[in-house]
Amino acid sequence: MHERILIVDFGSQYTQLIARRVREHRVFSEVTPPAQALARSAGGDLRGIILSGGPASAYAADAPRLPPEILDRGVPVLGICYGMQWLCEALGGAVAPGERREFGATDLEVVEAGGLFAGVPPRTRVWMSHGDRVERLPTGFRRLARSASCPEAAIGDPERRLYGLQFHPEVAHTPEGATVLGNFLHGICGCNHDWTPGDLADELVRQVAEQVGQDGEVVLGLSGGVDSSVVGAVCERAIGRRCHAIFVDNGLLRAGERELVESTFRDHFRLDLTVVDAADRFLARLAGVTDPERKRKIIGHEFVEVFRRQAARFAGARFLAQGTLYPDVIESVAAHGGPTAVIKSHHNVGGLPEDLEMELVEPLRLLFKDEVRELGRHLGLPEAMVARQPFPGPGLAVRCVGECTPERLEILRRADRIVREEFEARGEQEGVWQYFAVLTGARSVGVMGDGRTYEEACAIRAVQSQDGMTADWVYPSRECLQAIASRVINEIQGINRVVLDITSKPPGTIEWE
Ligand code: XMP
Repeated sequence: MHERILIVDFGSQYTQLIARRVREHRVFSEVTPPAQALARSAGGDLRGIILSGGPASAYAADAPRLPPEILDRGVPVLGICYGMQWLCEALGGAVAPGERREFGATDLEVVEAGGLFAGVPPRTRVWMSHGDRVERLPTGFRRLARSASCPEAAIGDPERRLYGLQFHPEVAHTPEGATVLGNFLHGICGCNHDWTPGDLADELVRQVAEQVGQDGEVVLGLSGGVDSSVVGAVCERAIGRRCHAIFVDNGLLRAGERELVESTFRDHFRLDLTVVDAADRFLARLAGVTDPERKRKIIGHEFVEVFRRQAARFAGARFLAQGTLYPDVIESVAAHGGPTAVIKSHHNVGGLPEDLEMELVEPLRLLFKDEVRELGRHLGLPEAMVARQPFPGPGLAVRCVGECTPERLEILRRADRIVREEFEARGEQEGVWQYFAVLTGARSVGVMGDGRTYEEACAIRAVQSQDGMTADWVYPSRECLQAIASRVINEIQGINRVVLDITSKPPGTIEWE
């Protein structure tokens, strides 16, 4: 049995990030809503409890609370933000609205080195996001760190092994966050870090086998990207040939995509693959449509129709498997039935109807992209498949601003191929999350030979990101930009101008639609 950390979800946007950070320390964690926390905190495998942040005020009548007995389990407890405030209230301290709200990067001064702050410099930056603050510490607690507007930025009662952090150690903007969490897991909880990617793979395989049962069959929506390929590998292990992969050529694919997906799939999977030629159907539905949301809806709807028809070919195919990842799941808390309810999934196929009549199999829905890549490597998928840049479900449609005619899509496809080739020829794709071309719909005047042109502008979009939720634009070398601009304009009729998109996310999004 693996040692376990219990994460109580008080409704924070970051709860799943906490779980991810704990996994990074090779420790198994389980996320639970407050109502089940006491029951889930029993068991000899439990090494510690982490209480997440949340939107409530600890002093509000309707704030989520835990039975105080959870603190008598004999394991260390770390409260983060609201979690710390609940801890203080529960133990006789006091929480009140702060004089100033604190959002974003803040300087932290470590008051007590060692323990939770072992290896952390005396001054460091942390990410804060709170309005309330702890005004009076419970008996036995003392201050471990402070910030200018939050005297009790980190607190602890080392004797009882109870700790609280007002800042968020789980977000990337807290550079020493991993060290602090590591100190909690290792130094304080005594975890021995025995949860490997192999264990995660085994667990996912077990879950899929259990969900699908002895005779269920699964239709897998294969896109050729890393997520659905990893789902394929998990399903293959879980249910073998009862998984049927379906790849839809919707006319919105990149150049060479269909051939690449077919050959890589046949080389690495023992599942049957059906390639559905649906380009005419998708493009007919998209004719004359320019509104980005309508385009997405139409594409999602058409995908579902294809999957439905394909599922009808297999007697027991009650399941649709997809490579949905955590960032696709818009409402985080609901993923665990936490206090802020409402599940709203953003699916790879662009939204599913309520009467789908198929049960979803989404083994990766609590994971992040880089974790899925690690998992894929562990499952033996080739590096070329695992390291591929993400490609959105709606395909080139979200990069072809305006109407998706076959002609414009072909122009975009050729421009995109050039962008990819020039990045890859120079190794400039290393460390870049995505790099592609956008057909902007903006037309401008140019001069070629002795003639006037009036054609479209192509944008180069390249971004760096950890999970697609935030992103920074990338500055390719001058040589790379020059090669792209010159080739695109010389080789493709229909584009007479090339621009570089230098918008980060937020405020932009990575895709243009
Ligand atoms: P945005 O444009 O929202 O994209 O900044 C963030 C990341 O998600 C990808 N993306 C999608 N992936 N189905 C997908 O599977 C979609 O509908 C979709 N829309 C955007 C995008 O390529 C980027 O990596």
